[in-house]
Amino acid sequence: MRDPAKASDLLDWYDRHARDLPWRVSPADRARGVMPDPYRIWMSEIMLQQTTVAAVKEYFRAFTERWPTVGALAAAEDAEVMAAWAGLGYYARARNLLKCARVVAKDYGGTFPAVHDELLKLPGVGPYTAAAISAIAFDDAQTVVDGNVERVMARLHDEHTPLPAAKPVLTAYAAALTPSERPGDYAQAVMDLGATICTPKRPACGLCPWRRSCSAWAEGTAAELPKKSPKARKPVRRGTAYLARRVDGAWLLETRPEKGLLGGMLGWPGTDWLDVTVDAPQEAPPIRAEWKTVAGEARHTFTHFHLILTVKTALVPMERVPERGAFVELADFSPSDLPTVMRKAFDLARG
Ligand code: ADE
Repeated sequence: MRDPAKASDLLDWYDRHARDLPWRVSPADRARGVMPDPYRIWMSEIMLQQTTVAAVKEYFRAFTERWPTVGALAAAEDAEVMAAWAGLGYYARARNLLKCARVVAKDYGGTFPAVHDELLKLPGVGPYTAAAISAIAFDDAQTVVDGNVERVMARLHDEHTPLPAAKPVLTAYAAALTPSERPGDYAQAVMDLGATICTPKRPACGLCPWRRSCSAWAEGTAAELPKKSPKARKPVRRGTAYLARRVDGAWLLETRPEKGLLGGMLGWPGTDWLDVTVDAPQEAPPIRAEWKTVAGEARHTFTHFHLILTVKTALVPMERVPERGAFVELADFSPSDLPTVMRKAFDLARG
């Protein structure tokens, strides 16, 4: 019989190997009673959804420098926050970030609630995020289950049921291990283990503090777990983006509707994006002009489809009035305010 995995073995490992992350209070500081700012924990957890630590770090730094408190963020203009989020993807997160900040500022006096069930009511805060904030910011013994934790649990228990069907059993395994001592450090420790040792490919089992408790290690199956149900293939959609430049250098842009893909983000006016097996999109130039098609295409993959964008450009005179969008003066336009797909169209047009 293998030794049962103990939270204390993982915590001992975390005391020595915790990653130094901009939103994190080190285990040594926590031991001295320092607790993190819930605002920073909330911000980091929203940013880290579907996004790597490496990609998040710089955005986290920029956001917390510019908006150091939830009150400051609540008072920001929507367009400023959306522009600052550009490039990070999953833009519903940024819309909910602002909504949530405004609820916390208005209904909670600018202080994040310390209670899991209250956190769950906030915009954009689901079970994962509520549990992570409760554990990390308030040392409440909630079970935090993200992709790292699922992988670690599947391996510890040599669980071969594929995801997503295995979620309930993996969550139960995670709950059984969650300690009442240091739950915040523990939650971060499992994530660090998943990110640095119990990695998706080529796990470093020789360095793992839970090796002697790990059924997949004993069976030699760690690298093939967790199993995953085959994903549906993503369909391909096509569309056209229209990049109109006025003779003074201003660009014709529009703010995309709140609801829908890239909602609230800045973008080039364009056609609908249609499945190539269904129909070709109707031309939809936003302003009368002599449009030229740029050689090549801008390609981008979203959660549910691949997009191939044709890019058209035109130079238009000062007095010409657009049917859609508005000209943004050159001094007010920064390509980094664009979501990645729009940025790719811009880069293609600029050659
Ligand atoms: N991924 C998501 N949340 C995290 C955290 N708090 N620490 C490390 N990796 C994470």
